[in-house]
Amino acid sequence: MKRFMLNVPCPLGTESITAHQINMLGYETSCVDGCVNFEGDEEAVALCNINIRSGERVLIKMGEFKALSFTELFDNVKKLPWEDFIGKNDTFPVKGYSLKSKLFSVPDCQSIIKKAVVQRLSEKYNISWFEETGPMYRIQFSIMKDVVSIYIDTTGAPLYKRGYRAEGVLAPLRETLAFAMIDISRWRGDRPFIDPFCGSGTIPIEAAMYALNIAPGKNRHFECEKWAMFNNSTFKDAREEACDNEKRGEKVEIYGSDIDSDAVGLSIQNAKKAGVGDSIRFFRSDVKDVRAFADKGIVMCNPPYGERLMDKKSVERLYAAMGRKFAEYKNASKLILTSYEDFEKFFGENADKKRKLYNGMLKCNLYMYFPKR
Ligand SMILES: C[S@@+](CC[C@H](N)C(=O)[O-])C[C@H]1O[C@@H](n2cnc3c(N)ncnc32)[C@H](O)[C@@H]1O
Repeated sequence: MKRFMLNVPCPLGTESITAHQINMLGYETSCVDGCVNFEGDEEAVALCNINIRSGERVLIKMGEFKALSFTELFDNVKKLPWEDFIGKNDTFPVKGYSLKSKLFSVPDCQSIIKKAVVQRLSEKYNISWFEETGPMYRIQFSIMKDVVSIYIDTTGAPLYKRGYRAEGVLAPLRETLAFAMIDISRWRGDRPFIDPFCGSGTIPIEAAMYALNIAPGKNRHFECEKWAMFNNSTFKDAREEACDNEKRGEKVEIYGSDIDSDAVGLSIQNAKKAGVGDSIRFFRSDVKDVRAFADKGIVMCNPPYGERLMDKKSVERLYAAMGRKFAEYKNASKLILTSYEDFEKFFGENADKKRKLYNGMLKCNLYMYFPKR
């Protein structure tokens, strides 16, 4: 099988978590800020898309070069072997970004890259017009300090779209970030787990899928499955292997609660869709009245931050109520994600450890409180 340089972008602070996921699939990785690099073939592309729980997408790296002018950009893009991937009828839109570089106009770079690819393919296929009605080969570029990296995306809709969550939910956490928090907590399905601000259920659902080893991408499709150069059986085999590895029937104790009964209803629906409906108990409760806390268990949540949900004063009161409730459980681990700078002050206790994580563009801290033995 043809080998590729592969690249998985991921939010800052989650590189080692994503790398570990890829290592577990048998590939050696190296990390740089915001992404993980490794080498692999078509099977690696299928395994990673289907199995990794963090990371945004799986990209094939086409090349990397310095470009200070549009001519350099054009010439270097034209040198790359686009015909090894893109056929006569295929679709190949171009998207990207530029930071701290001489070539800063993204629309101009986009159109230069497109022209260079079209010219290369025109010469190879001896045609001048591309209908672009076939499978999608999305070309993605980044220009950082004048260094251009150029990729083809194998994934399509980002990996956090597992397919179990209804669209349009207020302030949900990305599934990939929920998993990153679970990984950081070192919870392995062995202790009771509760999210008392479950919203649409993302954290408990990701916890259950992880504990039962349910592959996050097994029920969705990926762009490269339509590519002529890929064999249909590669993804089929990878899905079958993922299903064989599931630990269905494993006993787990996972709870999710929320003050909003609509959120609870939605969580129940989402958990069913994710195939973990029987493994999680959802119920309606104000955090201060929740009874499902377990003394040696784990509490993990992203409460309102005072940004999109609730105002500052209300979140300060809420954090104080959380502090009183959580303090009753001295032998539990508690992990709270918020962007609210003064969280510890209102919660009433300094965290044992903090980790910076990004919820979209929002800089947050994961405040970690360990059991007081
Ligand atoms: C940021 S959202 C959680 C999103 C969730 N992690 C997800 O992925 O969908 C915060 C949730 O806290 C809930 N909430 C607000 N005040 C609460 C309280 N006093 N007790 C319990 N839940 C509360 C809201 O209804 C909302 O669903």
